[in-house]
Amino acid sequence: MSSVCHEFSRYAAEYGSRNVIQRLVAEKLVASTHEQPQRILDLGCGNGTLYSLIDWELARFVGVDFSNSMLSHHPLSVNVELILGDFNDPALFERLKDNRFDRIYSASALQWAEDLESVIKALASLNTPMSLAIFTAGTFKTLHECAGVTPLLRSSDEVMDITEKYVNARYEVLHYTLEFDSVREMFRYIKRSGVSGGRRVLDYRSTKKLIETYPLSYLEFEILLIQT
Ligand SMILES: C[S@@+](CC[C@H](N)C(=O)[O-])C[C@H]1O[C@@H](n2cnc3c(N)ncnc32)[C@H](O)[C@@H]1O
Repeated sequence: MSSVCHEFSRYAAEYGSRNVIQRLVAEKLVASTHEQPQRILDLGCGNGTLYSLIDWELARFVGVDFSNSMLSHHPLSVNVELILGDFNDPALFERLKDNRFDRIYSASALQWAEDLESVIKALASLNTPMSLAIFTAGTFKTLHECAGVTPLLRSSDEVMDITEKYVNARYEVLHYTLEFDSVREMFRYIKRSGVSGGRRVLDYRSTKKLIETYPLSYLEFEILLIQT
């Protein structure tokens, strides 16, 4: 069953809070784990948001990301191992399967899985509890409606249908909004934050029109939390 949680934030460019939503998501993911796993795998670990939020002793932390530059900003420590790897590549899971983890985390990364079903299946085969946060189609809902474009991301129902085939999970749909001082600033954020997956679907004229007609002072984000 899914429940819905709403949270509102304000974008503050001056604080460099480009990834404010991703941070909230990672916080929620860590806070919703009741035990304190000692051996952790973090898929799509980026620059270490999740690792930095862990306030208990760890025996081992393995972070995987396919971006060298993100990994280069990840905190290091004797029990931290960083792997340059792609979760779309089955070889990654072959490499991981001989490791024992207490929990697998993935925050704000798996929406970019090319074939989510294969990734979930591979994750399930590791027989390890999981906490996954996946951005879903309600992200930028009004913007997409206003521009007449179809969402890039899978719907939360689609993701739940896939996951249910492989694991028994609890689900929660999170809704966040991020306020901006102007629609222009909002568009700048979309461009810089990478949340649009690098997609450029609107030409200059359509973008200009959208900037003039977008009815909200905020952007909407929808994230599905999956916990096993
Ligand atoms: C929005 S960031 C989130 C980073 C971090 N988990 C956090 O919560 O701040 C998404 C991360 O997923 C990584 N990523 C995207 N596709 C990937 C793939 N196929 N394999 C591994 N990492 C991937 C990106 O490089 C990026 O660091």
